[in-house]
Amino acid sequence: MSTDRIAAIIDFIPACKTLADVGCDHGFVAAAAAKKADRVYATDISEECLAKARLNCMGLNNVVFVLSDGLDGVERVDCAVICGMGGKLIAEILSRIDYKPYLVLGPQKNVDSLRAFLSKSGYEIVRDEVVKDGRKFYDIICAREGRQTLDETQLKEGVFYKTPSPARRERLERKLVFFSTLPPTESNLQTIYHIKEALKWQN
Ligand SMILES: C[S@@+](CC[C@H](N)C(=O)[O-])C[C@H]1O[C@@H](n2cnc3c(N)ncnc32)[C@H](O)[C@@H]1O
Repeated sequence: MSTDRIAAIIDFIPACKTLADVGCDHGFVAAAAAKKADRVYATDISEECLAKARLNCMGLNNVVFVLSDGLDGVERVDCAVICGMGGKLIAEILSRIDYKPYLVLGPQKNVDSLRAFLSKSGYEIVRDEVVKDGRKFYDIICAREGRQTLDETQLKEGVFYKTPSPARRERLERKLVFFSTLPPTESNLQTIYHIKEALKWQN
């Protein structure tokens, strides 16, 4: 399986000594990461998913498979990849470790609350991109230990919303059309305000 989302996740992984792909499922990211890291921990909470990963990583002797909730039971790693889960679960997994690896994150929802968590927890977001895969859009966020204060538009629309990106622009335009059809509640009007604020930079 090769999708633009998975290709972007792989592209964002830095060369490192140790890496964990948390919630590895099919194992495609772990397999590709095995070329960038000396040792890869392919972890999943589901034994069935780990079995898929074992098949897709066959022959890669630097990949270690761990049945694990988050990073529990995994040694300190230089890089943690956590993609395809909600932002709140990703934040919860990160809140249980006592060090700050380089992060490659692919939250599927609650992206604003994940950004807020990172900023409150001693991380600095260094990449925050929208990737289009088919008709869907995905946020991919990279973060490292550091300090960062984010404003409300950055929390909602991405730290680098002022940097033009065709995918971000298309998603903002679609969101604007969608939210314009909703009742003008305080919350919907706030969302529209931040979409318009971000769109100003996307020309
Ligand atoms: C939608 S799949 C995403 C797979 C892959 N990371 C990707 O982005 O394509 C989510 C995976 O996360 C695993 N998962 C869910 N909660 C988890 C947890 N607390 N710790 C580890 N894995 C978890 C699921 O079993 C599933 O394999």
